Amino acid sequence: MNKIALLFTIFFALFAISFACDEFNPNTSTIGECTATQKASWKPTDNVQVLTPADLDPQKLGMHEERMAYVLAIAKQQNKKFVASIYHQNGTLMCLGVNTGKPNIISHGEIVAINNCTALHGITSFTNYTLYTSGGNDLLCKICMSNIPMDSSYIFGRYYGLRASPPRVIGGVLRTEADAWFGSYCSKPTSIYYIKPQCVCTNTTSPLKIDQTRYSSWFENGKTVSQFGGTITNTGSVTVTNPTFTSSPNRPNSIWGLSVNEATNLWSLQWYPVIQPGQSFSFGYIIDGEDTIAFQPTA
Ligand SMILES: *[C@@H]1O[C@H](CO)[C@@H](O)[C@H](O)[C@H]1NC(C)=O
Ligand SMILES: *[C@@H]1O[C@H](CO)[C@@H](O)[C@H](O)[C@H]1NC(C)=O
Ligand SMILES: *[C@@H]1O[C@H](CO)[C@@H](O)[C@H](O)[C@H]1NC(C)=O
Ligand SMILES: *[C@@H]1O[C@H](CO)[C@@H](O)[C@H](O)[C@H]1NC(C)=O
Ligand SMILES: *[C@@H]1O[C@H](CO)[C@@H](O)[C@H](O)[C@H]1NC(C)=O
Repeated sequence: MNKIALLFTIFFALFAISFACDEFNPNTSTIGECTATQKASWKPTDNVQVLTPADLDPQKLGMHEERMAYVLAIAKQQNKKFVASIYHQNGTLMCLGVNTGKPNIISHGEIVAINNCTALHGITSFTNYTLYTSGGNDLLCKICMSNIPMDSSYIFGRYYGLRASPPRVIGGVLRTEADAWFGSYCSKPTSIYYIKPQCVCTNTTSPLKIDQTRYSSWFENGKTVSQFGGTITNTGSVTVTNPTFTSSPNRPNSIWGLSVNEATNLWSLQWYPVIQPGQSFSFGYIIDGEDTIAFQPTA
């Protein structure tokens, strides 16, 4: 869970329903108003840059820290997680908003602050105002807690059509203090912020298991020679394609089923290099001595 303190210049979000769109091709598209015979799509945009405290001059950072410290202090005083504040360009604190979970779950700190500022001062456009929030993962920001997993940089990058320039987003002001106040909700099922982790887990060890058997050994030209047979079994639940293997330095006199790339010293399957879950691939070799070549799957 990423719990960062964020502040940003407010903008108004409008969500338009769009119809099936083709991939944007700058060679065949123009930006502007479409004529009746043209198909309309949207202009693709990059995610907005998120500034960090390191990008700010110390004086500006000091001001932002002071304002963040203020929302954090109110959060602690009221024992709430999400508190937002909105400042006028001239430095005046215009209003506050506290997420109390009431009247409903979309009453996020920012929403409460926007409503509050509108009620108190009749502000309807928040250009040139700055909003601070104790919860970087709240509605308009990095959304991780029981919400949609979408970065603020993505959302703010889609400002196109709403304003002329991207909103300025700064993340990480008083991050340590904000993180300490948030803690983790993964183990608090009774909290309204609880989220059951939906982690993506990837095995770090290869599902390929290699077994080798020595079939026979014999004398040839005054030395012992052995024949080995092996199977590579996929013990995992997904198909393995193009696996490669490292080996101990001893080289076979002849081998089938595996081939080595002399440049990388990696072995690969000699034919159809795909092993389905539960399936095996066979190989064999003849080598001086009685020791196997130790093959190891790479990753
Ligand atoms: C647009 O034109 C350029 C230059 O001819 C070409 O390299 C590029 O692949 C074209 N882009 C698309 C999406 O067709
Ligand atoms: C800043 O602007 C607000 C809103 O217009 C106004 O109420 C306040 O007096 C101004 N403060 C200063 C210091 O100019
Ligand atoms: C609205 O903002 C004012 C001024 O900062 C604050 O005193 C008040 O508590 C806020 N109201 C709500 C509902 O958050
Ligand atoms: C925002 O502030 C800039 C700089 O002071 C000013 O030029 C601009 O007109 C302001 N925009 C709005 C919508 O108030
Ligand atoms: C990961 O390892 C576990 C335990 O060995 C296994 O049950 C699972 O199928 C593996 N997952 C994949 C994607 O291979």
